[in-house]
Amino acid sequence: MGVNLSGRSFLKLLDFTPEEINYLLDLSADFKHLKRAGVPHRYLEGKNVALIFEKTSTRTRSAFEVGAMDLGMGAVYIGPGTSQMGAKESMEDTARVMGRMYDGIEYRGFAQEKVEELARYSGVPVWNGLTTEFHPTQMLADILTAQEVFGKHNLKGRKLTFFGDAQNNVANSLMVVCAKLGLDFCACGPKEQMPAEELVAQCRKVAEETGSTITLTEDPEEGARGASILYTDIWVSMGEPAEIWEHRIQILSPYRVTKQLMMLAEPDAIFLHCLPSFHDTKTTVGLQMFEKFGVKEMEVSDEVFRSPASKVFDEAENRLHTIKAVMYATLK
Ligand code: CP
Ligand code: NVA
Repeated sequence: MGVNLSGRSFLKLLDFTPEEINYLLDLSADFKHLKRAGVPHRYLEGKNVALIFEKTSTRTRSAFEVGAMDLGMGAVYIGPGTSQMGAKESMEDTARVMGRMYDGIEYRGFAQEKVEELARYSGVPVWNGLTTEFHPTQMLADILTAQEVFGKHNLKGRKLTFFGDAQNNVANSLMVVCAKLGLDFCACGPKEQMPAEELVAQCRKVAEETGSTITLTEDPEEGARGASILYTDIWVSMGEPAEIWEHRIQILSPYRVTKQLMMLAEPDAIFLHCLPSFHDTKTTVGLQMFEKFGVKEMEVSDEVFRSPASKVFDEAENRLHTIKAVMYATLK
């Protein structure tokens, strides 16, 4: 039977089968072709979506907004602190109201439980645009990018290593998507930043079914050896206190993705990063960290970030095509 995601929410990849994830990836590639060829695809005219952001965003917001417009929909952006939600109105009440007005709701916030609650009470498809625990739409863009480089049927069995804060939303989600799609996942970071044992156990169970592995290592060289995809993310995520920068810089510096690490990986290895990235001092935070702690580049060297192996801007573009696929598949 074919895959049908109509009416479903997209809250975390653990809820989806490999077949469903592959369906979304194929749909994303189709939308990319349509966009590139300039073929209109206003398939969802007359529908409206809400985009709720309790944290800032460049890519996710743009992808949902442009994606919705390309599909012929109206999109309403509700930014941090601009609605009654939370302070004066519970998530349950907000969800019940929003479900009366919108056909679908994107939500970026803090606890995963909140986005699950929104989905439970709104009665319309809800899409997780990032929570403290997971960032599932990012995964589709990452895998699509890897498929474009290595070939759609040539990802299984490849090793993807995440370097750094291996317990953040992006690292957690990568572990899940790799297990689901049969890639070997390696979490490479200090002990205190390793993914939660419970999630590792859940993913290992999935990995057994798809014939892949989940490895945790504190050794950056071991992480890099044999990897086809080297992935990293910022060392302090949105919502974490600024005071932890100093400690994170201390414990995560050995896990910076450098040319030396890239050279230990497969010859055709690529570098991915969800962005935004601190690879130089051209940001306020980057400059502050340089002034305070003397680090010019953080999770990735500027050299790797700008190298031909770095596919980060293809990856960023793919946020649009994949998010469009998620909205279409669940709203059609
Ligand atoms: N990668 C990502 O989610 O970027 P934004 O925070 O800009 O949406
Ligand atoms: N881990 C990062 C991802 C940003 C897209 C954060 O949550 O801030």
